[in-house]
Formats: sequence, C-alpha cells, structure tokens
Amino acid sequence: MTGKICGTGSCVPKGVWDNRKLMELVDTSDQWIRERTGVARRHIAEKGETTASLASQAALFALENAGIKAEQVDLIITATVSPGELMPSVSCLVQKKLGAVNATCFDLNAACTGFLFALNTAQAYLAQGIYKTALVIGAEVLSNLTNWKDRSTCILFGDGAGAVVVSAQETGKFVQITHSVGEKGDVLTCTCRNQKIYEKRADAPETYMQMDGREIFQFAVSRVPEAIEELLKREQMNIGQIAHFVLHQANERIVRSVARRLNAEQDKFPTNMEEFGNTSSASIPVLLDELNRKGMLKRGEYIVFSGFGAGLSYGASLMEW
Ligand code: COA
Repeated sequence: MTGKICGTGSCVPKGVWDNRKLMELVDTSDQWIRERTGVARRHIAEKGETTASLASQAALFALENAGIKAEQVDLIITATVSPGELMPSVSCLVQKKLGAVNATCFDLNAACTGFLFALNTAQAYLAQGIYKTALVIGAEVLSNLTNWKDRSTCILFGDGAGAVVVSAQETGKFVQITHSVGEKGDVLTCTCRNQKIYEKRADAPETYMQMDGREIFQFAVSRVPEAIEELLKREQMNIGQIAHFVLHQANERIVRSVARRLNAEQDKFPTNMEEFGNTSSASIPVLLDELNRKGMLKRGEYIVFSGFGAGLSYGASLMEW
C-alpha cells in the first residue's frame, strides 16, 4: 500500500506584517529583506489565533477538499515547534475540534523538516496497513518564538498551517531519504518559551530563536541538492521526470541555488515566501495547497518535497501525485 494525497488545505492568520512594519521594530529596509530573502510580507497571529486553531482550520479545508469525513481519519500527525501548550498535543486539539474520534494523534518535532518527517511517518503506517487515512499537518505560530529586536532572524519568519489528507491506495509511489546532523545543532536553537527560564528571564535571548544564518544557508544549498540527487539515483530516475520541486520556503536565494545546482528548470521550483515568509513546518503544505487549488498538479506526475532545518535535519521525498 502507498499513501496518496487526496486533499490539501491551509490557513494563515488574517494579520499581515509587511517589511515596512518590521522597519518600525528593527534597523532594516524593505529592499534588504526582499533582496536577501525574497520575503515581502508575513502573516502574524493575533489574540485567539493559535497553533491548534490554524491547524484545525487547515485540516478542515483538507478534509473538505478530499471529500472525507472527520470520523474516517484514523491518524493525525502534526509537525510543530511552536505548540500553544506542551500538553495536550496540537493533534489531539485538532481531533477534538474536528470530531475525528477514531484517530490516533501525536505531534512531531523536526523543526522546518517537520512536515516532511510527518508525511514519511504517516506513509510508513499506511504502507504497513496499520492505518488507512491520515491527516498530516504542519502548523506554527513562530511569532511567539521570534525575537522582534533581532534583525538577523525576525525578518524571516511567519505564522500559518497547512494540511494534507493521505489515504492508502494499492498503486502509487512514495520514497524518501532523511538525515539528521545533531552535531551541528547549535546553529539554530530556541531553548523554550514555555519553560521556567522564560518566567525568570522573559527577555533572555536564548529563549527566542537564534541562528547562524550563513551556516544554515550553506548547509541548505549543499545538503538539499545532495539529498534530492541521492533519492533520484537510488530510484534510477532523473531530474527531467520530476514535475515540481516543493521545497521548504526559507529563502528565495536558497531555492534558486538548489535549482541551479541540480541543473533543473527554475519554474519547476514554485515559491511563496514573498507572501508568508518562513513558516517552518507549515511552509511545504501551504505551498502544496496553493498549487493544488490553482490546478497546477496533475495525477500521475512526480513531485519532490524537500525540507531542512534545526536539528540540523534534512531530507527529500518523492511522490506520485
Ligand atoms: N537588515 C539590514 N541589514 C542586515 C539585516 C537586516 N535585517 N540582517 C543583517 N544585516 C546586515 C549584517 O549586519 C551584515 O552587515 P555588515 O556586512 O556590515 O556586517 C550584512 O547585512 C550581511 O549580513 P549576512 O548575515 O552576511 O547576510 P546574508 O546575506 O547571509 O543574509 C540571512 C542573512 C539570514 C537572510 C541568510 O543568511 C539566510 O537566509 N540564511 C538562512 C537562514 C534560514 O533559512 N533559517 C531557517 C532555516 S529553516
């Protein structure tokens, strides 16, 4: 059995912060942010918009798109690094909101690679015949982890959620490659805004996201093409057979560089960080939903997903749409 994506959905907060808004917070410019990252706007959660509420709405849209009832879902996995609370899991909150009473629910943290790892995990359950219908969600309210006084990070991130319904089918293809490099973990960190340290030292920089941007940039532009090439080589496939490369939306220059390194056509690498910034585990499913709703995905085409992020971690998956 193989899991096929039969529905997609996404939900972002209503509030939009453009680059001009960030110029009120830190010493930066619209031109610098656009040129170095490709980001023009990001959606930022307001009171009442939580990781679980965005995830639930994205999941609801995905179920509607798939024509599947919440009771038919038997697995919910949410990838997130920014749950509103440590317990219960975002997935259990989504279950409650949707009435997906038959689902087994848990969350997974692989930072910006989270959606990819969650999709792979769901696929493994479906391939084994353990579950038949999974909801895989990437959801973040990164604005809670962002240091709005740090111009080297705050310009990049945004909030949002994306979801897919994956159902077990007799035919289809899904293969994946993943890697983790714990040794390099200290180049992208956040100690935790929910723990005691936060109460004691609310402004301690280490409780916000901190990163070595250049190191991550180099990591991404070398490891992502390597992972994609490794996967295609193993499957005896070539770049020309892939219709779309749906990459984690961290930085437009990273996506363009990956395409160049693979000698692939740039227009096979859609981007939407201009509108949403880097939404971590939500970025791949939000982009996929956009492509799906625009009718850009055709059944039988091959799509490569690739993510990278804190851990460090990275990987690539290939799926028949
Ligand atoms: N506005 C204006 N200037 C800024 C700035 C900002 N927001 N942030 C940094 N600068 C300045 C720096 O101080 C530096 O000035 P200097 O040359 O006088 O020292 C200059 O711009 C260049 O800084 P640098 O950090 O080398 O820029 P960069 O080209 O590497 O771009 C990132 C910085 C963060 C955009 C880029 O490294 C990046 O996107 N890395 C990947 C991060 C990522 O994807 N993280 C999430 C992974 S999932």
